[in-house]
Amino acid sequence: MEPEEYYRRKERVALFVSLIMASLSMVSLLVAFSYYCYIRNKVSKRSHLQQRLDNDDNKSGISNSSLQVACEKGLQVFTFKQLNSATSSFSKSNIIGQGAFGSVYRGVLNDGKKVAIKLMDHGGKHGEEEFKMEVELLSRLRSPYLLSLVGHCSDSNHRLLVYEFMINGGLQEHLYPTRGSNVFPSRLDWEARLKIALDAAKGLEYLHEHVNPPVIHRDFKSSNILLDKNFHAKVSDFGLAKRGPEKAGGHVSTRVLGTQGYVAPEYALTGHLTTKSDVYSYGVVLLELLTGRVPVDMKRPQGEGVLVSWSLPKLTDRERVVEIMDPALKGQYSMKEAIQVAAIAAMCVQPEADYRPLMADVVQSLVPLVKPHRSTYAPKSPTTVDSNSKCSDSVLTES
Ligand SMILES: Nc1ncnc2c1ncn2[C@@H]1O[C@H](COP(=O)(O)OP(=O)(O)OP(=O)(O)O)[C@@H](O)[C@H]1O
Ligand SMILES: [Mg+2]
Repeated sequence: MEPEEYYRRKERVALFVSLIMASLSMVSLLVAFSYYCYIRNKVSKRSHLQQRLDNDDNKSGISNSSLQVACEKGLQVFTFKQLNSATSSFSKSNIIGQGAFGSVYRGVLNDGKKVAIKLMDHGGKHGEEEFKMEVELLSRLRSPYLLSLVGHCSDSNHRLLVYEFMINGGLQEHLYPTRGSNVFPSRLDWEARLKIALDAAKGLEYLHEHVNPPVIHRDFKSSNILLDKNFHAKVSDFGLAKRGPEKAGGHVSTRVLGTQGYVAPEYALTGHLTTKSDVYSYGVVLLELLTGRVPVDMKRPQGEGVLVSWSLPKLTDRERVVEIMDPALKGQYSMKEAIQVAAIAAMCVQPEADYRPLMADVVQSLVPLVKPHRSTYAPKSPTTVDSNSKCSDSVLTES
């Protein structure tokens, strides 16, 4: 072979090999790139899914593992059988109350501990959310001014919450007779009312200022303030609670829930919820304590049906405060104290949320009014009791 021909052939082979190599690297580059795209796509899908789950959790305010966490944090998990036997098969004679969640039963656990057991009587998404929120919050919040959750039961068909037993029941039963009850309210005296106002204020102060982010109760009312044997008050029912905004002065937008007569006007109108919505509800409870009246009572004469609108003009007029005071309190309070408490209530129910005080301010204003050495309260007026009443226990059977 001619050398020239030899070199030309060698050149062609080299060109051919280079072409093959180049196309091979192109193919491997393409393969690598497609693999990269595939992996990237997968990762981003997964993080989207995670984000969606996180968002869903944030929306409902529940973490997926909340119940599990609750168990780790010392809440007892009961079987339905255990709670069935604690309440004598949920006998009617053990019913101590009825709320939107379901019936509340008195119960005794195996170790002899007295408890109150709430049996959810309706299912659905909202009931389930309330149940989880109550367990999740009460498992991580600890304050002497909040009702303790002992444990829960959540088998496939039942949802039950087990609480410490508050022998003197809900505050509202002591201020006025509740619907369907023939219990004559054991009237609380002035000092007891001030002490209850302070305990409840401390409960809300804890939620708003000692928890981060703050917790907004959203259903603060007199039936959710429970009283123990010494009439110490604890705030209960966190099913509607909401985590507050991270930044000061912010709000959370949410559907309007709560109880008629207690819901702050701006929240009712816009759905913007802040800790100041709870302050408004607290003001309404303070008015109940001062007046012994129900927040909304359309059976009253015109202009007197809504407690806030009826009392507000009188609260800030020193001469007229006496007109709103519960007649059952006659002779028990000094006018100076009544005017001070009326002024706190007036601030709390201001229509403009920004003008309402912080719960820490309310606590500060009430502290000097509460007599430090008073630890027990015994109702002065005789009490007629029915078989379902906790008041009967408070007087007769507390050990
Ligand atoms: N831990 C408890 N100890 C003693 N009594 C309780 C306890 N929890 C609830 N009760 C009684 O049961 C009643 C009903 O309570 P529940 O929280 O179910 O409803 P509510 O507060 O009246 O209304 P809502 O369901 O709208 O909050 C209370 O008013 C109280 O008398
Ligand atoms: Mg309640």
